[in-house]
Amino acid sequence: MALIFRNSMLKLSHESRSGLSKMALFAATRSLSSDSRRLAGKIALITGAASGIGKTTAAEFIRNGAKVIIADVQREQGEQTAGELGPDATFFHCDVTHEPSVSSAVDFAVSKHGRLDIAHHNAGIGGSASSDILHLEMSDFDAVLRVNVRGVAAGIKHAARVMARRRSGSILCTASVSGVTGGMAPLAYTASKFAVVGMVKSAAAELGGFGIRVNCVSPFAIPTPFVMEGMSEIYPGLDAGRIREIVHGAGVLKGADCEEIDIARAAVFLASDDAKYISGLNLVVDGGFTSFKRLSFPSPSEQPK
Ligand SMILES: NC(=O)c1ccc[n+]([C@@H]2O[C@H](COP(=O)([O-])OP(=O)(O)OC[C@H]3O[C@@H](n4cnc5c(N)ncnc54)[C@H](O)[C@@H]3O)[C@@H](O)[C@H]2O)c1
Repeated sequence: MALIFRNSMLKLSHESRSGLSKMALFAATRSLSSDSRRLAGKIALITGAASGIGKTTAAEFIRNGAKVIIADVQREQGEQTAGELGPDATFFHCDVTHEPSVSSAVDFAVSKHGRLDIAHHNAGIGGSASSDILHLEMSDFDAVLRVNVRGVAAGIKHAARVMARRRSGSILCTASVSGVTGGMAPLAYTASKFAVVGMVKSAAAELGGFGIRVNCVSPFAIPTPFVMEGMSEIYPGLDAGRIREIVHGAGVLKGADCEEIDIARAAVFLASDDAKYISGLNLVVDGGFTSFKRLSFPSPSEQPK
């Protein structure tokens, strides 16, 4: 009797173990599939998504289950990108320097999909790469601030207008390592990216009461079209491959290069419900570059006697 009881317990425990392992496997598969679709059903608008970081982010949003409005001033390139990304991408012509254009892009997203869950203000320009403060062209300064600051401010304003009604939403902006520390870009660009971080914190303070989160991602240098253009201005005639090497070579984290996909994945995280209690954050994606500066003491062997 005792033996029968022991055997049946063993059988039961074996079955429940195998039952549990099946359940665990089922749960793991489910979490794997939901992990890869962290933005399932979300409606997103991304400015500056015709190329570079914005385009890769749009692709990653779609891969995670979102429908994306590609808002960009470049019509041909934007239409081509939307075509490449498939039926979940729609191009909308938008110049972020023109407030009614930004407002229309937001209204288009709402009229097409019924709501706006994620607004990613990513469009940006570099301005003159070779300008120094003694030769600062105020027209260049104005042009950079018009896109990078005024464009983002208008974007936050109009996204908030439609998100506040639903008392939820995630607003993202693309800042830069140039908005964390000085000396990495000309004055106008640096000023514009410090301003983006400031606007994100200010908007997070105001919009938290409406259930809207506001964050930004600050990328390290990536050889996108705008960086390639700027570098060609500094190194005229240098081939593209060598310029890419120089840009990647500036990183401090060895064994990896900063790429568009690294920024896109940070944006997916911040946009998703995984970050549901994160607001006002500047997520710096720079391999540690802006976190430290080494004291360049001479090595002991070089020390003067
Ligand atoms: N590439 C880098 O190293 C780097 C580093 C830090 C931050 N960033 C920031 O990333 C963002 C994206 O830049 P990227 O590197 O992908 O460059 P990119 O040139 O590939 O993309 C910028 C996009 O913005 C669009 N755009 C420019 N002006 C616009 C306007 N007035 N209205 C609407 N769209 C406009 C362009 O058409 C383009 O598609 C920018 O805000 C940039 O400042 C880039």
